[in-house]
Formats: sequence, structure tokens, C-alpha cells
Amino acid sequence: MEQSARTKVITGNWKMHKTIQEAQSFLKELLPLVEESRFKICLAVPFTLIYPLVQEFGNDLVEIGAQNMNDASEGAFTGEIAGKMLVDAGAQFVLLGHSERRLIYHETNAFINRKVTRAVQVGLQPVLCVGETKDEHVNEKTEDVLREQLSECLRGLSEEELDRLVLAYEPIWAIGTGEVPSLEKIVEVHRFCRGVIEELYSTDLAEKIIIQYGGSVTPENAQIILSQDGVDGLLVGGASLSLDSFSRIINDDQKSNT
Ligand code: PGA
Repeated sequence: MEQSARTKVITGNWKMHKTIQEAQSFLKELLPLVEESRFKICLAVPFTLIYPLVQEFGNDLVEIGAQNMNDASEGAFTGEIAGKMLVDAGAQFVLLGHSERRLIYHETNAFINRKVTRAVQVGLQPVLCVGETKDEHVNEKTEDVLREQLSECLRGLSEEELDRLVLAYEPIWAIGTGEVPSLEKIVEVHRFCRGVIEELYSTDLAEKIIIQYGGSVTPENAQIILSQDGVDGLLVGGASLSLDSFSRIINDDQKSNT
């Protein structure tokens, strides 16, 4: 499979961190560092940061997105946010089905499926997160779990609608723990996910789809993970919060690939 056809994407997931001022200072320093990058750089930020960051810095050098949205178009859903509001604020993409949403807020595959459908409808690029728990990993259930997550979260969506879909493979036991699967396992699971997309849709979509790896990515392991066959990018949590570690992830990649 032709890997070079896919631009690698490094996405920071800031989770519930940073005020407007902190985010603005971060971006001011980050932008000169990514100007030369041949990777696409994205930041999934808290809702309050989307509008001020897009107003000040645009979406060209670093693309700004959200970390969640509601499935409804609008309505009486206190505390929720609609996809069209994210588009209005300038978001380009939205993370959906992150394991923290699944585990802490009990989001089901069916709910995530409705969110992916809405995201596509309003023109937001969906970044669908999938991954297995430690138990499922140990009991060799990873493939079953991923197949179920992918087929249920994408149910009813056509190939055309999923044209810009990004997948993030994030083993739950690797998120924020410092534990990372073996490189062989990462390659195997990415290949498996691509195979499921091929089964559900087509070889064409499977070849096109960006599949990122996420879970305890650091400046020390980013380069080697990113160079694995079929790994099209990284979803970086903790290490995206500091300018030093995030820019080292971006810059080390550049060095290793030029
Ligand atoms: P981590 O988080 O890099 O801190 O493990 C990744 C994520 O939750 O997206």
C-alpha cells in the first residue's frame, strides 16, 4: 500500500487545559516552529479557545478543531454544543469517540455514530477514536473490539461522506500511562483497521484514510512510531501541552524524514 500518498498528521489533544491567554502565547511560539514542517499540524482544543485562536492565527499553519460535539442539530440540551456552532467558531475537525468520552461519559458506539453523521453533515472533518481496554488487550480481543467500534460508529455513512474521515487508534491502556504497545502491535492494528475499512467500503478509501496512533506519545518515541508502516500520524495528549515537548515531536520527525 502506497504510504507516501498520505500526508502525516500530528494532532495535539489539549483535553481540559489552557486559558485563552495561555493558548495564544503557545501558538505564537509554535507557529514559527511549524512553518517548514512537511506534516500537517492540528490542535484539538477546548471550545472556548476555538474562536479566539482561529481569529488570531487562522487555520493554515495549525488547524484548529474541537474535542467533542452533540449529535443533534440544536435544541434543549443544556451544556452541549452543536457541530454547526463549532463550524461557526472556525473549527475544521472534531475528535469523536475519545476513550475519555466513552468511559467517563458513557458514550456508546450508537451515539458516536450519530455524532459522526452530524459532523459530516455540517462539514466538520470527523476524527474517530477507537481502542481497546487493558483487559481486552490481554485477552486478545483487540480486533473484535475495533471491528465492532468501526462498523457501529460508521454505520449508515457512505464512502463519499467519509471521504475526509481520520481514524485514531488509541489503546485505552496506553493513554496517559507511559505504556505503549510494541511497534509490531501498532503496525498490526493499523493494518487491521485499514483492512476493516476496506471490507466495509473499498480499497480506495482504505488507501486514502489517515490512521493516527495515540497513547503516551513522547518526543522520545514519536519518531519511531511515526516511521512505522501504515502509521499516518500521531494523536498526542500530555506531550502536546508543553511547547518544548510538542515542538520536539514535530521537529524530530522532520529530521528523521529528510
Ligand atoms: P496521552 O493522551 O498522549 O496523554 O497518552 C492521548 C490522548 O488521550 O489522545
